[in-house]
Amino acid sequence: MRFDLSRQAFRSTMMNFVKGVALFIALALCSGYMLHSRSLAGQEKQEKDEPTVSPEQLAHAKALFAEKCARCHGLDGTSKTVLGGMLGAPNFTDARWWKNDVDDKRLVQSITEGKGEMPAFGKKFTRQEIVSLVAYVRRFNKSEASTSNH
Ligand code: HEC
Repeated sequence: MRFDLSRQAFRSTMMNFVKGVALFIALALCSGYMLHSRSLAGQEKQEKDEPTVSPEQLAHAKALFAEKCARCHGLDGTSKTVLGGMLGAPNFTDARWWKNDVDDKRLVQSITEGKGEMPAFGKKFTRQEIVSLVAYVRRFNKSEASTSNH
């Protein structure tokens, strides 16, 4: 009798264990697949030499910037806001800041994952929106505008 009981207990423990393992594998497969398809999507875009940003997308980025970013970075990109000053946000109109090895890849990553005191936006925006935001932020760089006018 005692033997039977413990066997039963063992069986149900085993069943729970198996269920747990099955669930874990299902979750792992699922998130692995999602990560994979995400990175594939990223790669495709990179291969196309970063998607070009259409005027519509840039206009959309401008609206997003006003809504989500301007409280720290200011509508003019100087980050001369109370929050921007407190958190040490960079001045995007300062040519010296752009000299500091600031490529699109890094900016996309900073907006997606956050950086220092800046929150992550990867869950709020699509990759296209983030790429458009980077293009929009780049336009604050006056030195770039003046060099491309030459
Ligand atoms: C809560 C304030 C805050 C908000 C909101 C915010 N930022 Fe920032 N941002 C910062 C701070 C602070 C930094 C400087 C981070 C550092 O260098 O440690 C920063 C840095 C950046 C950088 C430079 C990243 C780098 O690699 O040096 C970019 C680009 C940027 N922000 C874009 C955005 C965009 C686009 C949005 C809106 C989607 C946004 N930020 C919203 C505070 C903010």
